[in-house]
Amino acid sequence: VVDIRSFYKDSGMFTYDPGYTSTASCNSKITFIDGENSELRYRGIPIDELAGKRSYLDVCHLLMMGRLPNEEESKNFDLEIRHRSFLNEGIIRLFDALPDGAHPMATMGAATMALAAFYKDHLHLEDEEQFKTMRRRILAKMPTIAAMAYRNSIGTPLIYPDINRYFTENFLYMLRAYPGGKMKYLGDGLNDQIKQVEVDALDAILTLHADHEQNASTTTVRNVGSTEAHPYVAIASGISALWGSAHGGANERVMEQLKLIGDVKNVPTYIAKAKDKNDPFRLMGFGHRVYKNRDPRAQELKKLQDKLREELHLDSHLLDIAAAVEEAALSDDYFVSRGLYPNIDFYSGVILTALKIPIEMFTPIFVIGRIPGWISQWSELKQDPTAKIARPRQLYTGK
Ligand code: ACO
Repeated sequence: VVDIRSFYKDSGMFTYDPGYTSTASCNSKITFIDGENSELRYRGIPIDELAGKRSYLDVCHLLMMGRLPNEEESKNFDLEIRHRSFLNEGIIRLFDALPDGAHPMATMGAATMALAAFYKDHLHLEDEEQFKTMRRRILAKMPTIAAMAYRNSIGTPLIYPDINRYFTENFLYMLRAYPGGKMKYLGDGLNDQIKQVEVDALDAILTLHADHEQNASTTTVRNVGSTEAHPYVAIASGISALWGSAHGGANERVMEQLKLIGDVKNVPTYIAKAKDKNDPFRLMGFGHRVYKNRDPRAQELKKLQDKLREELHLDSHLLDIAAAVEEAALSDDYFVSRGLYPNIDFYSGVILTALKIPIEMFTPIFVIGRIPGWISQWSELKQDPTAKIARPRQLYTGK
């Protein structure tokens, strides 16, 4: 904390806080994190009571509406989301303009930004019903945008949503189906129906990503929202922030890194590289700004991984490398003294691979999961009478 009143006489106390490590930017009632005690709660409910125990859409209802739905509300919410999952043909034509091989995150950002052109009314949300529709619409459409972004990137015809399927199953269907409707995994030519165990696993993964208070992408959504920009523009900005490898992009990098390590015997070499201050190499999936102890989301995913090991035929070679990396890091003073534990991104990859999710879809899945968080945080900002435009100050060091 630097008191620079002498430089800026009219301004009172300034804090200089690069990366905002110690600055609260808002009041919030949505998500609670206790980084010391590895605790994470959505609207007061610990995540281990939600992940795998309530459907992801129920958790979205919890975050967005402030409470878990009853049975009838849950059914109606699910039905509404199914019906809102279609995209305007204009958005679909936009995909054509993007090249083969485009990263799905780039396409998703562009398509989400374009939604603001199709739903101009969502800039004026005085009407409670409109406000509700705006939030549900973006939640419902994101899996369609993500699946189409992927199919477009590999030059495969796009698949429209099937309203007979639950949210998560529908996403897997849109990703895997052939245009004729026959299920086929796009990568290796296996005939493959969607199994309930796969839907449940992905549902739990989405729940664990649903909100995480003022992380970099959520802060971006709030900052853009504070300028009175369209809510979908704020969400598109969140997608941009999430893509970076220090944030949501880390899940893709973890998988690349495990493959690069290639064998348990190479783990010590990479641990040494991560510790070497002259080497920019970082162990992806390790460390967190708030958790200096275990990341509770990672612990839940580890449990899921152990449970699914046999059932989903998880890649035991990758699991062995991951286990060796974890063991080596957690017995090394460099990692222990800095509180560097595996984070959520360390464990999601092996499960997503077993669900036959292509690696470039790992971060898009994070986006799908984070929508209820972003939109709830945006809504909270809009309802906060003390909210102001986000406009930090600087310490000028130039001429
Ligand atoms: N590998 C090696 N060293 C690391 C790592 C790592 N993964 N993470 C942090 N460190 C070291 C830093 O070099 C620094 O060491 P020093 O004290 O000797 O200078 C110390 O640990 C503190 O690191 P910071 O970068 O200052 O911590 P910060 O809180 O700013 O960063 C972050 C957190 C970005 C997550 C960082 O740990 C990281 O880059 N991890 C790898 C990427 C990753 O997994 N990101 C996903 C985060 S979870 C999420 O967004 C969903």
